[in-house]
Amino acid sequence: MDKKFDLTDSLEKIPVKIFSTPEEGAKHVARIIADLIKQKNSEGKKTVLGLATGSTPVVLYNELIRMHKEEGLSFSNVITFNLDEYYPMSPEDSASYHYFMRKQLFDHIDIDPKNYWLPDGNTPKEKIKEHAAQYEKKIEDAGGIDLQILGIGQNGHIGFNEPGSPVYSKTRLVTLDNSTRVANSGHFKNISEVPRMAITMGISNILAAKQIILLAWGENKAGGVQKSVEGKSVDEVPASLLQQHDNVTFVLDQFAASGLTRFKAPWLTGECEWTPKMIKKAVVDLALQLKKPVLSLTNQDYIDFGLSDLLEVKGDAYEANLDAFYQLRDSITGWPGGKPNAVTPNHPERSTPHPKTVLIFSPHPDDDIISMGGTFMRLHDQGHNVHVAYQTSGNIAVTDEFVTRFLDFATNFEKMFGIDNTKSQDLMDKATDFINQKKHLEKDSEDIRSIKGLIRRCEARATCKYVGLTNDQIHFMNLPFYETGTIEKKPMGQEDVDLTVKLIRELKPHQIFCAGDLADPHGTHKVCLDVVMAALAQIKKDGDEFLKDTYLWLYKGAWQEWNVDEIEMAVPMSPGQVRKKRYGIFIHQSQKDAVPFQGDDQREFWQRAEVRNANTADLYAQLGLTRYAAMEAFVRWKF
Ligand code: F6R
Repeated sequence: MDKKFDLTDSLEKIPVKIFSTPEEGAKHVARIIADLIKQKNSEGKKTVLGLATGSTPVVLYNELIRMHKEEGLSFSNVITFNLDEYYPMSPEDSASYHYFMRKQLFDHIDIDPKNYWLPDGNTPKEKIKEHAAQYEKKIEDAGGIDLQILGIGQNGHIGFNEPGSPVYSKTRLVTLDNSTRVANSGHFKNISEVPRMAITMGISNILAAKQIILLAWGENKAGGVQKSVEGKSVDEVPASLLQQHDNVTFVLDQFAASGLTRFKAPWLTGECEWTPKMIKKAVVDLALQLKKPVLSLTNQDYIDFGLSDLLEVKGDAYEANLDAFYQLRDSITGWPGGKPNAVTPNHPERSTPHPKTVLIFSPHPDDDIISMGGTFMRLHDQGHNVHVAYQTSGNIAVTDEFVTRFLDFATNFEKMFGIDNTKSQDLMDKATDFINQKKHLEKDSEDIRSIKGLIRRCEARATCKYVGLTNDQIHFMNLPFYETGTIEKKPMGQEDVDLTVKLIRELKPHQIFCAGDLADPHGTHKVCLDVVMAALAQIKKDGDEFLKDTYLWLYKGAWQEWNVDEIEMAVPMSPGQVRKKRYGIFIHQSQKDAVPFQGDDQREFWQRAEVRNANTADLYAQLGLTRYAAMEAFVRWKF
């Protein structure tokens, strides 16, 4: 393919800059902000920034704080206006955007508290119009916004301008979409506590900024980003209205960018290299769109869907069909640890050695069974030496009611058997008092956290026993980055990596399974993955021989599945195995029904897992391969 013409962005109506990680994207934007401040300072003017809240800009704020502390970047000449605030909401409330901004940025830089502004969520309703007009006037008096930073909602909202917000909308009181309330519920104890309204700057105020940078990280933003960048400029997708601005850039990580045609269907941009993976992607995509089995696709189908280029390369549809079909067929195996005594050159795993030492990393105490329970059981049943390492304690996901039940049990157990242990009674009384007097959103005491962690540990151990593992095959790592007692975690630290290096060295596994939630930039799963990657990099650097023989397989966490064209190992499950996996998930009783910080999917974990595994099997069947009841899916990561 002639690489002379870069046509990859031919369908994009907003310039995008794509980085491999949010941190790199944030560095780029922080540099732009720093340069702007310097330039404005040299002109003797103040810099006016428009700021956003939410999880997205946190990496940017971290980088600005770093630049302030290490490079002397000063904000003494900066005025900021935030886009929005919940309504009603006191600025002192820990869920408010006022609090968020102080905690994430303002408290750590030298901005004058008189120079930062947010809409006031305490304004009486009858005064909101007046307040909104004053807010806009303040922006105008400051000279207008020089640079507006935006995030994007999964539904395409900017600020709290939900779908349907007109391009001329101004600062006002708005009702939040239910999907936004659900998406933001992670910061509240439960959905009913998420405010129903907000005060937000309007689309016209955003478009009035001299420059706009929208940030988006993670695959769950990919759909909104794609529609905004490549779709029509319509108020159903508020961020698409940014196409009307002449100085706007979307700064994305590779996952938020993954819905763009240059990645999703690069053949349509006029520039595409036909590697086997790309052929599989194109053919699978075509077959699924046409609801046809792969082997039934015709030359005309290829031509109608912009794939004549592939036809030309392969000569005929049949050749391209077979190419994709074989790749799909060879990814299916009931022998996830390799089939012993068999010559299977295209099998995803090697037949030797057998048995293998397998190490499953589970970010939380139930991810192993939820995401790869069927494979976990098969590996054990096929004679492999399977170890599970639970990376974090998962203690914040246990409700107070659940821990109260255990405290009650423990207290009465001692009474029932006349066990007279004052130390343990004291501890339990203290813990019970704490729970009884615990305030809204208050952090748990160390004791309560330990008890909650213990509850989850017992559940994990019980699941391992159910699968057939013995105690020496179960490892609780309690990685320190997780132990903050709040949903915000510390970044990965050397201690996390060292613990992981130690375990991998001890076991010298032939296979490592790991939650590959590459797309989840803020969550625990991503940090857990980063820790394993850093540990592997260190072991590789040290030159340990055993690593040459280690395959790393990634499974997805509870939230998503790999696209079918990406799957490199699909492990089928019978209806009986599906049921057995379900009972394994049930053992995690603290996670049944509603859990704190449930996020935007109200289904229980076993339901999500079953739907997802059945869906994968269904897709394979639709593509013309054998129909199984369910399938678990993995991608091999070559490190
Ligand atoms: C918040 C705001 C919102 C967020 C959007 C994405 O000030 O303006 O539009 O940017 O809801 O939120 P996160 O970043 O949490 O995904």
